[in-house]
Amino acid sequence: MAAAEAAHRPWPAASRLLAWLAVAVAVAVAGTWRAPGAAAAGDAAPPGKIAVIGAGIGGSSVAHFLQQHFGPQVELDVYEKDHVGGRLATVTVNKQQYESGGASIHSLNLHMQDFVKLLGKSAIFSGEQFVLEETDWYLLNLFRLWWHYGMSFLRLQMWVEEVMEKFMRIYKYQAHGYAFTQLEKLLHSLGGDAFVNMTQRSVAESLLEVGVTQRFIDDVIAAILRASYGQSVLLPAFAGAMSLAGAQGNMWAVEGGNKLICSSLLKLTKANVIQATVKAVSLHSSEGKTFYQVHYEDEEGQGSSFYDIVVIATQLHNNKNNITFQSFDPPVSDFPGLFHTTVTSIVHGYLNSSYFGFPDPKLFPYASVLTTDAPSLFFSSMDNICPVNISGAFRRKQPQDAAVWRVHSHRPLEKQELKVLFRSYYSVQVTEWQAYPDYGSAKSLPPIILHDNLYYLNSVEWVASSMEMAVVAAKNVALLAYNLWHRDVEKIDQKDLMHKVKTEL
Ligand SMILES: Cc1cc2nc3c(=O)[nH]c(=O)nc-3n(C[C@H](O)[C@H](O)[C@H](O)COP(=O)(O)OP(=O)(O)OC[C@H]3O[C@@H](n4cnc5c(N)ncnc54)[C@H](O)[C@@H]3O)c2cc1C
Ligand SMILES: *[C@@H]1O[C@H](CO)[C@@H](O)[C@H](O)[C@H]1NC(C)=O
Ligand SMILES: *[C@@H]1O[C@H](CO)[C@@H](O)[C@H](O)[C@H]1NC(C)=O
Ligand SMILES: *[C@@H]1O[C@H](CO)[C@@H](O)[C@H](O)[C@H]1NC(C)=O
Ligand SMILES: *[C@@H]1O[C@H](CO)[C@@H](O)[C@H](O)[C@H]1NC(C)=O
Repeated sequence: MAAAEAAHRPWPAASRLLAWLAVAVAVAVAGTWRAPGAAAAGDAAPPGKIAVIGAGIGGSSVAHFLQQHFGPQVELDVYEKDHVGGRLATVTVNKQQYESGGASIHSLNLHMQDFVKLLGKSAIFSGEQFVLEETDWYLLNLFRLWWHYGMSFLRLQMWVEEVMEKFMRIYKYQAHGYAFTQLEKLLHSLGGDAFVNMTQRSVAESLLEVGVTQRFIDDVIAAILRASYGQSVLLPAFAGAMSLAGAQGNMWAVEGGNKLICSSLLKLTKANVIQATVKAVSLHSSEGKTFYQVHYEDEEGQGSSFYDIVVIATQLHNNKNNITFQSFDPPVSDFPGLFHTTVTSIVHGYLNSSYFGFPDPKLFPYASVLTTDAPSLFFSSMDNICPVNISGAFRRKQPQDAAVWRVHSHRPLEKQELKVLFRSYYSVQVTEWQAYPDYGSAKSLPPIILHDNLYYLNSVEWVASSMEMAVVAAKNVALLAYNLWHRDVEKIDQKDLMHKVKTEL
């Protein structure tokens, strides 16, 4: 019944996915994972010390999952050179905080939902409205979208829904303790060859294949992808599907700021957060055992410590990170690929509504502005945003009042450009992010395992880059580290998992 309904409703019928969600949550609750620390196949002694490099959502969640699996006796050190939260951060305007990095979370992101429950936080839901106008600015509205693009719109939804439904198998597999040694194997277990291919072909190609028109792709898909990834419809199909799901789903954020999930997880885990920059990881072995030495620099100078397991939870690629790998044979290879710069300007001011075709500011009806590919445009999207703490008294500002806007662009905005978008403003706060991979810049997916017990969590970003992808990767790395430590090969890279998890239940 739910499925039949879904096919007729123009807007994402969450019903089928909700059924999935119910199953996945049930599995997570009834989960069959072993008690932390309980020995599996091989009876290896638990590791003594584990290092995590980076305290973003990836690093803080892997610390949590590692402790969940190995038990509380394992000593966890988390190195952070800057702020806990990483690309989850807020800026303060008028005593209120606003998200300047990763902002919204999809309602089907189950790991993030679990964290909110586990940590006793609350979620704020945002009803995003898209309105489409035939101008240089895409102001997307649900109804108009449907009106203009009918079938393409429906086909897009079905495609996204199918990808999401398959993607959500990961929660079941992980609840049963299964892990993967390569991203390709993880993707294959979820959606076969087609899923692996989706990291290599473009979203445009995939959508044309399911019957979405070129016009819809150029007009609508391009605008949404530019707003979320700052990239074109040549973005790989998998990353594209994830961000299109975000454009049409029910989105939420963590009350008080998404970064609170990171600090709260680290507190819960009682990890030692070490404020230091990691410079190098070197390999040592004695008596047939392998150790990793983490070399760091902090305010007092240089230091180092030894670990049994190390997880790199930050980007490793040639224009961003300076962590070197010493004494590895074969050497840990260089990671090709660039990251895309996204500049976030949080502006408190009065919108210049006449620039958007509304001489009377009272009549400006939109909370989001997406853009077309016009070369003269200097920004890629802007949103009227709410603070991370919404009290009962909060009301969105009238369009003619001063409001807080988040403007995304490829480079910092010049003063004249700000003067075009805003009649006047009180403040501008600029953050320049190495936001996501520049997907055109690397041909293959990086590895998850760099050496026996040395893991690279952020390789997942080359599949898709979001908070939930980081947490999915964190859960996979924690399970993989645990399964490999105990030589539990039954739980690694298994084929036909859909069948296996059914019979295991
Ligand atoms: C502008 C913007 C908007 C976004 N919007 C969304 C969104 O709406 N929804 C969504 O899901 N995702 C969004 N994202 C993506 C999301 O924020 C990221 O995918 C996610 O936060 C990445 O987390 P991470 O832990 O993998 O990496 P990071 O957050 O980058 O964490 C890595 C950490 O490692 C530290 N570090 C690096 N090198 C070293 C070193 N040598 N020694 C010690 N510490 C080190 C860094 O300081 C950093 O804190 C957005 C990102 C940006 C930039
Ligand atoms: C994946 O891509 C390969 C090579 O491009 C192709 O031969 C194969 O048919 C594709 N598989 C699927 C399921 O799309
Ligand atoms: C915002 O919310 C967080 C968590 O709910 C709380 O710790 C913080 O004090 C609040 N800040 C303000 C300015 O209300
Ligand atoms: C990496 O090292 C180079 C050269 O020492 C330096 O210019 C750059 O700022 C460093 N990058 C980071 C992210 O620390
Ligand atoms: C606002 O936009 C209009 C129309 O593009 C432009 O002429 C004007 O200079 C802009 N700035 C202000 C402050 O009105």
